[in-house]
Amino acid sequence: MHPLLWSVMLLRITGPVGRCGDFLPNAQIPGFDVAADTQVTDEPRITTYLCDSTNSQQTAAILSRMRVEPDLIIDDGLHAEDAQIATLKNFYPALRPGGLYVVEDVWPDNVENILEQLKQLDPGCPFFVDRSRGRCFAIVIRRPREESWVRRLLRSLSAGPAPGLSD
Ligand SMILES: C[S@@+](CC[C@H](N)C(=O)[O-])C[C@H]1O[C@@H](n2cnc3c(N)ncnc32)[C@H](O)[C@@H]1O
Repeated sequence: MHPLLWSVMLLRITGPVGRCGDFLPNAQIPGFDVAADTQVTDEPRITTYLCDSTNSQQTAAILSRMRVEPDLIIDDGLHAEDAQIATLKNFYPALRPGGLYVVEDVWPDNVENILEQLKQLDPGCPFFVDRSRGRCFAIVIRRPREESWVRRLLRSLSAGPAPGLSD
């Protein structure tokens, strides 16, 4: 039997990596951060990338090189609405079907817009808003394992008419 292997992405790896490493002892952990002082070089299970998570070209280049399907993606980067949305768009497609995507520290006023973007990205995708942690919320999204006919229908409706069919 294979050991359970997780691929986990954190947007910053400093102190919490130790805790994360303890918590997920079999995890391979790629981490992304814009700040050079967050890069880790002495931990075999952790690989860090200097990267702006909101930049689609930078993230696509790194993700295509890594060729992993992470089980868990945690966005604990820039807690601004635009950044959380851009990061979701850049990283969610890389998530393994059945995996979890967590947006940390979402301001209550931003929840609806982020969920609206999620709906466009993956209509019908299940999510949970954790409001238990005080001032800021967390959004936990599960990428469905397989596409049901309902989600296929929602996706086709949200995509609009095929090119050439509109007037
Ligand atoms: C709130 S801290 C989180 C740190 C860490 N997860 C922790 O719990 O201590 C935010 C981190 O996001 C990084 N960051 C800010 N904007 C970013 C961006 N656009 N792309 C990637 N990382 C970013 C910052 O450099 C900082 O290290």
